[in-house]
Amino acid sequence: MQIILCESAAQVGQRAADIIEARVRQGSAVLGLATGGSPSSTYAELIRRHREEGLGFGDVTVFTLDEYAGLAAGHPQSYHSTIRREFVDHVDVTPARLHTPRGDATDPVAEAARYDAAIAAAGGIDVQLLGLGANGHIGFNEPTSSLTSRTRVKTLAGATRAANARFFEDDGEEVPKLCLTQGLGTIGESHQAVLVALGSVKAHAVKAMVEGPLSAFCPGSVLQLHPRAVVVLDPEAASKLT
Ligand code: F6R
Repeated sequence: MQIILCESAAQVGQRAADIIEARVRQGSAVLGLATGGSPSSTYAELIRRHREEGLGFGDVTVFTLDEYAGLAAGHPQSYHSTIRREFVDHVDVTPARLHTPRGDATDPVAEAARYDAAIAAAGGIDVQLLGLGANGHIGFNEPTSSLTSRTRVKTLAGATRAANARFFEDDGEEVPKLCLTQGLGTIGESHQAVLVALGSVKAHAVKAMVEGPLSAFCPGSVLQLHPRAVVVLDPEAASKLT
């Protein structure tokens, strides 16, 4: 696991964008993308490079990490809408190449299996961008998730629903209780993984992920097994590292 210590959130975004850009410029990249606050500076930097430096995403395929169960793609808080709003609609990703699990699938178990198979059919994920939950989750693989799990339906932890309530409260809606998420085994098969973490709220989870034992109680620790995992941190997120 390579650790990159940065001075600011903006620099975290630049370093993560460097890794993504390097793969995108090789052509036909398959990107795994996270939503939430952590990757915002990465997306901002990639959008800037698209506008100012001609970085093209026309031949890029995107698979998001996860989706809320019960939300249709068009719901404003679905991760499909979020990744479009935060990144995809600002660059030249071909709409047909944007894949998200269908949160409103009538058979979510079958949908999860279909999604896992679609990633494999695309040749696997070249660069998987990840955030880290304060409880150590990656994707929505909450503590006690199997380290070899595949894309599947999961129950969101209470702490995760509380952390994400900020995105739903304006509309007076509750955070869904279930989600579909790439599994830890699925994430582990990515060719390269880049995890970005910002702020002191993540410091404990970062320490457990990097220095703690490999444990299902800290799902992010599965990256210790990943042959090409890079963790990009701001000073606050890195503050508990030895
Ligand atoms: C979202 C995801 C989650 C988030 C994590 C951190 O697609 O996979 O694992 O990355 O919950 O969320 P933020 O970045 O909002 O602190």
